[in-house]
Amino acid sequence: HKAIKKICCIGAGYVGGPTCATIALKCPHIDVTIVDLNQARIDAWNSDNLPIYEPGLDEVVKTARNRNLFFSTDVDKAIIEADLIFVSVNTPTKKSGVGKGYAADLGYVESATRHIAKVATSDKIVVEKSTVPCRTAASMRKILEANGKAGLRFDILSNPEFLAEGTAVKDLDAPDRVLIGSLDTASGFAAASSLVDVYANWVPRERVITMNVWSSELSKLAANALLAQRISSINALSAICEATGADVDEVAYAVGLDSRIGPKFLKASVGFGGSCFQKDILNLVYLSESLHLPDVAEYWRQVVAMNESQKRRFTEHIISSLFNTITNKRIAVLGFAFKKDTGDTRESSAITIIKYLRAEQAKVAIYDPKVEESQIWFDLAEPGIVDDVTALKKQVSISSSAYEAAAGADAVVICTEWDEFKDTNLDYEKIYASMNKPAFIFDGRLILNQNKLEKIGFKVECIGRSRLEETFE
Ligand code: NAD
Ligand code: UDX
Repeated sequence: HKAIKKICCIGAGYVGGPTCATIALKCPHIDVTIVDLNQARIDAWNSDNLPIYEPGLDEVVKTARNRNLFFSTDVDKAIIEADLIFVSVNTPTKKSGVGKGYAADLGYVESATRHIAKVATSDKIVVEKSTVPCRTAASMRKILEANGKAGLRFDILSNPEFLAEGTAVKDLDAPDRVLIGSLDTASGFAAASSLVDVYANWVPRERVITMNVWSSELSKLAANALLAQRISSINALSAICEATGADVDEVAYAVGLDSRIGPKFLKASVGFGGSCFQKDILNLVYLSESLHLPDVAEYWRQVVAMNESQKRRFTEHIISSLFNTITNKRIAVLGFAFKKDTGDTRESSAITIIKYLRAEQAKVAIYDPKVEESQIWFDLAEPGIVDDVTALKKQVSISSSAYEAAAGADAVVICTEWDEFKDTNLDYEKIYASMNKPAFIFDGRLILNQNKLEKIGFKVECIGRSRLEETFE
């Protein structure tokens, strides 16, 4: 099989950027060019201010950039020169047409694939890095074969990405596994071996697994569906905890000690966010429906429904605790990113919670350590409504610290588990002194020491923990 000397990655986003920067770092003998249509994004990758925040990423990029790592908008040149091309473009949920609200929009994958067919002048290995529905590799192959120059050979591989945001660099450096799917043909196996060799530069060989391309595609959707299902399961239990006096952290600890269950991904929360979980489950729901498996579709749909219910329940609890009205009350929302250590806000639970708070006419003060102000306005504005931001600004403000957000507030609501918000890092005495009384804290991430804060004087409400005993006393 062929040794890879030049790699092109189409799509310089949260996945393409860190993934291929890591390949460049670990394989100094391979030239890696990451291309995108978005000039501003490429300029940012070439600057000191990278377009995405990931711990450790600056160092990776700085070490490899302009050595064997390049960022460019010259898509044609990168395709022509590459032996292997990663397709790492976005695959959002369709907003209209057949499968609207469920199916993945494969428009970007298709247009990148057509572009490869149009400009390629030599054989290519084309790798699906984007998360795609099962059997997308077949469509890509048809497009390449119908449009590519005569005599060229295109091998399609599936190589889904399992990195999580906030820990991307660590995940890429030491992945649990790297998955490579190929067709069961001699040339499919050879292509897979070429990609295995790339990863083998730093990933222990036994962690690079190969299988058939359809299993590989489905494994990605399956992994995200199972992870999200664990969160919805623990969140469903958190509701029972709040109504009974059980403590969800204790329950998670107890069940997690069972080696068949394991301790990870059992943290009750305001609900999962991020660009992947909801999109990929809906994708699986759509796939199940297309395969005439309505019960299967319904099963997975409930994981998303539970997540929505968790956000609603949390907000309803805030309102009822604040004496059933939050009209004109200042509510400090700490955290806007969908999880800590990222500036990404896609599908962040904070967005939905703030929407509910606004519907009750609260005054919302938001603070997040990493999310850009412009991103917050963008996420909160209703698409298509002209000058919605002006209306928004009457109700919502963005603070430059947790202290500023909390000053004059009736409640502090923790939506993201940033370390900065822990009671060991923030001065909660100072926050308490600056708030209206009774001063409430709603811990949507279970990061605070409840007793310590209650000693200061706060009324503390946590996901999955009830104050039943108090009521009985
Ligand atoms: P993203 O939106 O951050 O990046 C995609 C990039 O592709 C954009 O910059 C866009 O301009 C570019 N692009 C689109 N069409 C193009 C074309 N024809 N030519 C050149 N550039 C083009 O998306 P992302 O978060 O990096 O996700 C990419 C894929 O990886 C998705 O399928 C997603 O499901 C999957 N994935 C994401 C994560 C994650 O944590 N974000 C993890 C695993 C898998
Ligand atoms: C996820 C998958 O973990 C990753 O493998 C895949 O490649 C992309 O999708 P990501 O969305 O970046 O990664 O972050 P993840 O750590 O999975 O968190 C997703 C959401 O679930 C976050 O909002 C997080 O706060 C929430 N979560 C996670 C919980 O509420 N409880 C948990 O126990 C774990």
